Amino acid sequence: MPAGHNGAVTDAASSLSVTSPSADLVAEPMRSRWSPAVFATDRAVDDATIGGLLAAAAWAPSTGNTQPWAYVVTRLGTAAYDVVVDALSSGNRGWVPTAPVVIVGAVLVGEHEGRSSKGDYSYYDLGQSVAHLTLQAQAVGLHTHQFAGVDGAAVAEGLGVPDAFRVLVGIAVGYVGTDEHVAAAGEADVARHRKERVRRALAESAYDGTWGVPFGG
Ligand SMILES: Cc1cc2nc3c(=O)[nH]c(=O)nc-3n(C[C@H](O)[C@H](O)[C@H](O)COP(=O)(O)O)c2cc1C
Repeated sequence: MPAGHNGAVTDAASSLSVTSPSADLVAEPMRSRWSPAVFATDRAVDDATIGGLLAAAAWAPSTGNTQPWAYVVTRLGTAAYDVVVDALSSGNRGWVPTAPVVIVGAVLVGEHEGRSSKGDYSYYDLGQSVAHLTLQAQAVGLHTHQFAGVDGAAVAEGLGVPDAFRVLVGIAVGYVGTDEHVAAAGEADVARHRKERVRRALAESAYDGTWGVPFGG
């Protein structure tokens, strides 16, 4: 790679693929992360590992270090997990229950125990915290699949989430399903599981100095 800023930029742009993260640009565990739609239902995730995911989420940066997130862990076979499953959108009803663990993510939207929401930035912070959680999961051999297709108000009520928090997302956590699990899954879920992963070209959303000037030329 040519030395200097401009040389590096040119190389980065030319080796960017829109169908898979290139090994020379994207480090692990970001490169390997993806969202499966078939998990190994019969492989549990132990509490120490889940604790690691939550610790990674807790160590994310946040606006004024407000940490405006809260998580509720639910495990397959429990009443709490069923609260989430009962609130799923139809499109998520097939695949989410293949995950042994579903973590519910909530954001502070009001005042709670001396903490105040920072509005938009609290939402931003929850997302960044979840990003850390997903990458920790990937780093320890797990996979995650986030979902917004769930009735957050119903989940909040069923799990006792205070009014000052809004349930925004579910995070399915588990090991990727084997061929055997895939064979047992519904057609739509297998299609979702195998769907080609694509991204917009970097030049369409990353600019250099001025909006509309593609990064990397
Ligand atoms: C906030 C959020 C909400 C999502 N909601 C759903 C959902 O309801 N159902 C679903 O199947 N996937 C959902 N996804 C997963 C995305 O579709 C997925 O991340 C995207 O297609 C990119 O695929 P990848 O994670 O494998 O890179 C959601 C992801 C995020 C971050």
